[in-house]
Amino acid sequence: MNSYQDFKEKIFKLTAIDLSLYKEKQMKRRIDSLIKRYGALSYSDFVALLESDKTVFDTFINHLTINVSEFYRNTVQWQVLQKEILPMLFSGKSSIKVWSAACSTGEEPYTLVMNLSRFIPLQNIQILATDIDKEAIKKASKGIYNAKSVENVPPDFLDAYFTKRGEDFLVNDSIKRCVTFKQMNLLRDEYPTNFDLIVCRNVMIYFTEDAKREMYHKFNNALARDGILFVGSSEQIISPRTFNFKVLKTFFYQKI
Ligand SMILES: C[S@@+](CC[C@H](N)C(=O)[O-])C[C@H]1O[C@@H](n2cnc3c(N)ncnc32)[C@H](O)[C@@H]1O
Repeated sequence: MNSYQDFKEKIFKLTAIDLSLYKEKQMKRRIDSLIKRYGALSYSDFVALLESDKTVFDTFINHLTINVSEFYRNTVQWQVLQKEILPMLFSGKSSIKVWSAACSTGEEPYTLVMNLSRFIPLQNIQILATDIDKEAIKKASKGIYNAKSVENVPPDFLDAYFTKRGEDFLVNDSIKRCVTFKQMNLLRDEYPTNFDLIVCRNVMIYFTEDAKREMYHKFNNALARDGILFVGSSEQIISPRTFNFKVLKTFFYQKI
C-alpha cells in the first residue's frame, strides 16, 4: 500500500474516520508532516506502526482532529448569541435543548452554560456535547484549563464558576453537571433531534463540500421548529435556503 487512497481506506478500517470526506490537500499535508516526524515512513510502514503502537495511534488521532479551542472563541459572536439569539429562543420558554457538536476539549459547551445561566438557573441547563476524539472528551470532562484559554471569560463568571489551582483554572462542578459529553462522528453517526440551538463551529472548514452539504441537511433535521444553527467565523452557508435555513444574523441560521 503506497497510495494515499489505500491509506485512507486502511485508516477508515482502523479508526472509522473517513478521510475522503475531509479536504484532501490540507489533510494530506498534516498527515505527511506527522509521518515525516516518525522518520518519513511509507504509508504502509506508518500503518504498521499505528497498529503496533498505541501512543503513535493516539498521537495520530490527536493530530488529525485539531482540537484548538478557547472559551468565548470569537467573542463578538457570543455577544450576538447573548443579546439577540438567546432572548428570542427563551421567549415563552423556561428551558431550551442545546447541542455543542464537535465540542473538542469542552471550552465551547462550558461557554454555552455560562451564557444560558444569564437566562435560567443552572439546574435547568442540560447541554449535549459531542466530539469524535475520545481524548478531547476526556479532557473536557476534567475541565482543567490554562490562563490563555479562559482569558475571554467575563470576570464575574471566572469568579463564580472556576477555581484557581496554581496556574490552572478548574471548572466547578455546578457547571460540569450541566454538560453531558459523548463521542460522536458527525460524518457517520445518526444525529440526535429536537434541538432549539445547535452550535457547530470550526470543524466544517475541514470537510469537503459534499460532506458539508449532507451535514447541513442533517443539522436542519436535528433542529426543532424555528431552531437555530450557530456556525464558525469562516463557515457561512452558501445558499442556506437550499437547506431550509434562513439567515438570522451572520453565522446564525434559523430552520424554516
Ligand atoms: C478546531 S476544533 C473546534 C472546537 C470548537 N467547536 C471551537 O470552535 O472552538 C475541531 C473539533 O472537531 C472535531 N472533529 C473532527 N472531525 C470530526 C467528526 N467527523 N465528527 C465529530 N467531531 C469531529 C475534532 O476532534 C476537534 O475537536
